[in-house]
Amino acid sequence: MRKMSALLAVTVTLLCVQRSTGRKAMVLFSSTLEMKETVWEFALNSGFITELAAQQGALVIFAEHRYYGKSLPFGKDSFKIPQIGLLTVEQALADYAVMITELKQQLAATQCPVIVFGGSYGGMLSVYMRLKYPNIVAGALAASAPILSTAGMGDPRQFFRDVTDDFASVTPECRDAVRGAFHQLKELAEHQDYSRIQSEFSLCKPPSSAQDIHQLNGLLRNAFTLMAMLDYPYSTHFIGEHACQPCQAIVYNATGVLTCFDLYSLYLECADPTGCGLGFDSMAWDYQACTEINLCYESNNVTDMFPPMPFTESDRERYCFKRWSVVPQPDWLKIQFWGDALSTASNIIFSNGDLDPWANGGVRKTLSSSLIAINISEGAHHLDLRGSNDADPVSVISARKTEADLIAQWVKMEKIRLEQSL
Ligand SMILES: *[C@@H]1O[C@H](CO)[C@@H](O)[C@H](O)[C@H]1NC(C)=O
Ligand SMILES: *[C@@H]1O[C@H](CO)[C@@H](O)[C@H](O)[C@H]1NC(C)=O
Ligand SMILES: *[C@@H]1O[C@H](CO)[C@@H](O)[C@H](O)[C@H]1NC(C)=O
Repeated sequence: MRKMSALLAVTVTLLCVQRSTGRKAMVLFSSTLEMKETVWEFALNSGFITELAAQQGALVIFAEHRYYGKSLPFGKDSFKIPQIGLLTVEQALADYAVMITELKQQLAATQCPVIVFGGSYGGMLSVYMRLKYPNIVAGALAASAPILSTAGMGDPRQFFRDVTDDFASVTPECRDAVRGAFHQLKELAEHQDYSRIQSEFSLCKPPSSAQDIHQLNGLLRNAFTLMAMLDYPYSTHFIGEHACQPCQAIVYNATGVLTCFDLYSLYLECADPTGCGLGFDSMAWDYQACTEINLCYESNNVTDMFPPMPFTESDRERYCFKRWSVVPQPDWLKIQFWGDALSTASNIIFSNGDLDPWANGGVRKTLSSSLIAINISEGAHHLDLRGSNDADPVSVISARKTEADLIAQWVKMEKIRLEQSL
């Protein structure tokens, strides 16, 4: 995931087309885009899929998730109530199912296997596609997909603990310096030394209330989260006496054009404590986090380095009712997508990078001979979907090889099944 958003959402599907030789090749199809990232940008960052497609003679298709990017069913009114109500996981999956079926018809490729791919939320969607439409989808590669924690099955402390561990793994002093900086900020706020806070953090306006300090804490926590997730080449020299200033500058002032930081325009508090990003896509994500997708993650300054910022199910309910007039359904994802009975599914790869704070919200253990967990040491958020690069660690090279082999097997099996069903 890149940019200002928390969950990156991408799904790609692999169909196959009839080639002129009469042999069947494959087609790849991507369903969701990452928040803030256009489908095309995602396509450019998913080199692994195009490399695989080239090997298999496949066509790659990227499709956009409803309510993201340009796929707005009611134009600029899409984010109004009740129009937003058609934004659900089920509807998005149905879009893909209908689209794949229709495309296979149009391409005269009804006999071609389909494999879905995705990273982050897109990885979750890939899993769901395989579970819900095994008649259409032969297998799924779910990269960095936190399918357990978002179904409400995780530890609410896990996410920010793992962000903290990323920094501690650089050096423990690094983690301690960040904790110290938040402590300093707390003391300044307690003494209402607002002008000092303004100058320390280059804020456009001095904070003037507990709410402003809460917002500043959220904005700073988000900056560290993004650094951990994007695996910026951070190092200890960023973390000094003014621990938070450099990270804030890296994340929010990457373009170098800001003269000061505006507390309320750079970061929006929403139903995803890891950040919803900005713009229309952030609204779509906020709505999803208010309905089906559980992201009740807390920081507590004990298991993590951040100030205590709880976000309980009742906080979520209160916020979501006020913002969208909806009441979250915390159990629905778990109920409809098999929750802790995943071992009865088949043909899914769950890949996770060790450096990714989302990893432990997903499946880390192989569940059966066709439900394979892959660990990528030194891997960040769905690194394996990216194209081969000279700087790739051995772990990701070998992960891609395993993935390609498994997918080739599934495609072969599916071709046999499709031929027999003729
Ligand atoms: C943003 O970056 C530019 C270029 O590095 C720098 O001159 C400016 O002071 C930065 N703004 C803030 C608010 O730190
Ligand atoms: C975090 O905990 C430490 C140790 O208990 C405390 O001194 C510090 O003030 C706390 N920081 C925040 C931001 O609450
Ligand atoms: C991946 O790493 C996690 C955490 O270190 C571990 O619990 C899990 O067993 C590993 N899974 C595989 C498939 O190696």
